[in-house]
Amino acid sequence: MRTQVAIIGGGPSGLLLSQLLHGRGIDTVVLERQSRAHVLGRIRAGVLERGLVDLMIEAGVGDRVQREGIPHDGTVISHGDEMFRIDFTALTGQPVTVYGQTEVTRDLYAAREAAGGTLMHGVESVEIQGADTDTPSVSYTLDGQRQHLSCDFVAGCDGFHGISRKTIPETARREFEKVYPFGWLGVLSETPPVHEELIYANSERGFALCSMRNANLSRYYIQCRLDDRPEDWSDSAFWDELRRRIPKPQAESLITGPSIEKSIAPLRSFVTEPMRWGRLFLCGDAAHIVPPTGAKGLNTAASDVHYLYNGLRQFYEDGDSEGINRYSEKALARVWKTERFSWWFSKLMHRFPDQSEFEHKIQLAEIDFLRSNTAAQTAMAQNYVGLPY
Ligand code: FAD
Ligand code: PHB
Repeated sequence: MRTQVAIIGGGPSGLLLSQLLHGRGIDTVVLERQSRAHVLGRIRAGVLERGLVDLMIEAGVGDRVQREGIPHDGTVISHGDEMFRIDFTALTGQPVTVYGQTEVTRDLYAAREAAGGTLMHGVESVEIQGADTDTPSVSYTLDGQRQHLSCDFVAGCDGFHGISRKTIPETARREFEKVYPFGWLGVLSETPPVHEELIYANSERGFALCSMRNANLSRYYIQCRLDDRPEDWSDSAFWDELRRRIPKPQAESLITGPSIEKSIAPLRSFVTEPMRWGRLFLCGDAAHIVPPTGAKGLNTAASDVHYLYNGLRQFYEDGDSEGINRYSEKALARVWKTERFSWWFSKLMHRFPDQSEFEHKIQLAEIDFLRSNTAAQTAMAQNYVGLPY
């Protein structure tokens, strides 16, 4: 079998890249380890930057997100019972869009299918060969049969635990990492959101986030211990703890219900450099991870896709390698800025187990500064709505 671009991983990065390239007549094959139901069952991101929505429109999958996505002109930050608002639209001219990653993926699956794209689920033992030559290839096992796919380029869109990054020899890459001493326990419930905008809550008991998917689907998170397990938290224990961490009026008006999903995500900052090795390009979580506090993971995956798509387009349409040669440099310049923002916002909002009284006071002073200083709010808003590509 042969294709132009072999894409490993059928998450949002791989699907979006495949669909965009298809629009330019560039052939791809997407190899996904999991079933479609498994990919769609993972509850993850919920906030989209304008850049991602624009890419979805360019890929021909923008109708539903424009119709059903909820524009949010700002967000609320609370500390104890104090609340203030960051007005994205007033400060930057741009809102963000609340629309679940599951829906983004669903739209992309539908479009790939309608276009007759090749997307294989349940592939095992994927290996990349010859990425440092002009004739790379990918082998994999499907239904017990070993298969071979030759291609011009390989896009490693296989997430943090994928094989693409590890294919780059250790002597040719550097990794930068920070692991945080806590996780997020998330609950999805068929209840109306507690507030019309997201609430990022700093409290003495730890961080909490009130988010949503639509008018009757809420997503809540609380900072938890790294050794907590979802089954250790009954629904009522979760709701009680959430109420203690958000301002009183919201705690009193919170409508609770049975959780329809409950999971724990550890928090990590991670970057690998470079994001290209020969004809292998890393994209999205395969190359970098951010803690979810700034809502940047999926959005940064999308900016990688933007740079890679345009580089490949330039290569196939104009015979110009400039875009792919500069892919890693351009993607990383933006990645490090979103890493910085996500690290800063995480540091501001969480209780660290080893935090000294001094550090705690500094954190409170910084929240107060953000509450009262327009320049600080503008910087926060510019990063949250998304830095330019
Ligand atoms: P993934 O979604 O991880 O997709 C990679 C795919 O590759 C997977 O489908 C996987 O099954 C497949 N794969 C892995 N290994 C192999 C292999 N060997 N062979 C074949 N296929 C393979 N981001 C935001 O922007 N905003 C948010 O609000 C936000 N909230 C989040 C909340 C939580 C709780 C979590 C966990 C994450 C959140 N994120 C958020 C991050 C976001 O979900 C990720 O950044 C995003 O999924 C990255 O997409 P991806 O396609 O690069 O990787
Ligand atoms: C979500 O709705 O899942 C979500 C929203 C904002 C974040 C992280 C997660 O910062």
